[in-house]
Amino acid sequence: MDILGISCYYHDAAAVLLRDGQLLAAAEEERFTRKKHDYDFPKNAIQFCLDAGGVCSADLDYVVFFEKPFRKFDRILATTLQTYPQSWKVFRESMITWMLDKLWVASKLESHLGVPKEKVLFSEHHLSHAASAFLCSPFDEAAILTVDGVGEWVTGTYGTGRGNEIRLTKQMEFPHSLGLLYSAFTAFLGFEVNEGEYKVMGMAPYGQPRYVDKVWKLVRQNDDGSFSLDMDYFSFHHSTDRTFNGRFAGLFGEPRHPKMLFFTESTGFPKYFGERPADYPGLCRLNQHYADIAASIQRVTEELLVGMAKHLHKQTGLKRLCIAGGVGLNSVANSRILCESGFEELYIQPAAGDGGGALGAALWVYNTLLGKPRAFRMEHAYWGRAYSPSEVSAFLTKNNIPHCLIEDDDKLLDRVVERLMQGKVVGWFQGRFEWGPRALGNRSILADARNPEMKDIVNAKIKFREPYRPFAPSVLAECAERYFDLPHASHHYPARYMLFVVPVKSDHYATLPAITHVDGTGRLQTVFRDQSPRYYGLIERFGEATGVPVVLNTSFNLKGEPIVNTPANAFNTLSKSEMDCLVLGNFLVEKTNL
Ligand SMILES: [Fe+2]
Repeated sequence: MDILGISCYYHDAAAVLLRDGQLLAAAEEERFTRKKHDYDFPKNAIQFCLDAGGVCSADLDYVVFFEKPFRKFDRILATTLQTYPQSWKVFRESMITWMLDKLWVASKLESHLGVPKEKVLFSEHHLSHAASAFLCSPFDEAAILTVDGVGEWVTGTYGTGRGNEIRLTKQMEFPHSLGLLYSAFTAFLGFEVNEGEYKVMGMAPYGQPRYVDKVWKLVRQNDDGSFSLDMDYFSFHHSTDRTFNGRFAGLFGEPRHPKMLFFTESTGFPKYFGERPADYPGLCRLNQHYADIAASIQRVTEELLVGMAKHLHKQTGLKRLCIAGGVGLNSVANSRILCESGFEELYIQPAAGDGGGALGAALWVYNTLLGKPRAFRMEHAYWGRAYSPSEVSAFLTKNNIPHCLIEDDDKLLDRVVERLMQGKVVGWFQGRFEWGPRALGNRSILADARNPEMKDIVNAKIKFREPYRPFAPSVLAECAERYFDLPHASHHYPARYMLFVVPVKSDHYATLPAITHVDGTGRLQTVFRDQSPRYYGLIERFGEATGVPVVLNTSFNLKGEPIVNTPANAFNTLSKSEMDCLVLGNFLVEKTNL
């Protein structure tokens, strides 16, 4: 039985193909269209999934959409009418887009895919989130927490999963949304909403949570962990372009200008920023103020999530928790939930945001709606498109790109280790691209994590990003506890997907300066031989050569672009940056030969 899951028209469009309950392929549309967070109908991702399954759309048994368009339309209609006339603009724009696209999802699916309406099903947004975590997890029984910006009406749920059943027992509703609260601060701090949330999280350790009391003026948490926002401070319920209002700015001061460079006393002024500005001390103080605000919203977000998880733990008495929704990508909060909520284990799958809804919806149809036993557990994130050696070779030859083919894996790995030890920056392109926003060793840029200069080198050569954004470490799973304070590290699934930020052991700050954040933490990825043998082999060899089985891993993309998909995308990154070499499967391209 083949089920195609689709999510689109909101955040990240994606498609997945499930065959007899097993995942065959999953991809976000942005990888194909090269448009970051592309939310349009995912025709490329769908085609990729169908090709991976060797089927055409007429062969599909079901197509399932990750949410209910009419219910969502109902929310927009109701909230815009409530806040009329301020909301007239948002109402008009919503009407146009909803009438054109979203209300007619079933007809669109029918026309795009040639699938009759009776084969098209609709899940609910948060049910899709819940299913995307629980039905991928290794747990027979677990509590479920979903938290995001907003689905149809819902912004968060509590629930339980048992076998193939999911019960959502409580829901929080728009406009009371933790995702939208965090997004308001993302916008206030000068970042793009739905994109810059990671930057707020990265900026937070540079600040002190001095404004926690002010943030608590905006939000109140109830005894059952649910919360409500004071809407007098926000605009997102009646505006398409503003999330907060003048009262909000009255509490926190002028919003940060999006073009303002971020630096404080502790970041210093990186060389790649250019000339040091004349009013450097004043700008440092101003940035410190914004870092303090980031620290404050991050702290309150953690407290709210820990409060919800604690309540859920008490209420259900269960030992395991599955988390989904965009807020589930807040890896600092996830670690606090693990430490403080009472749950012993967490499961979060790598596409915890809306892209993952496509997967949850498909699993919900197979396991819950059709009542079939669970046949799948997500052990890794490698579900995207792969390129065969002949495809890579054809690309290199056709474009006259000098390269060498190193067929012996040991020799290839030795060569790459040598480059890393020389301080080179390596583009590492292997197998199927990752599902979700993190590069996990198949579309990664790698460097030596031991080199104190490496953060600046990678930033200056390729990323050009703000100095507060940390680079992540990939570590052999069985060596993780030597460097990181995460007991039973290899046992925890979120660590496979870089979804925990944990303390680096203080005696290893000096061993791993390039991946240790300013507050002494690291967003580790545990690497397993079974799941990624070549990446594991590389880190193992690097460990044999240096005594440290850890590499710096950052996503394979230029600033502002989605992570690379094809060999051509990868080569384009090599050409447009100062990356030193590119490994495409067993092919090696060295910048010096170009
Ligand atoms: Fe969502």
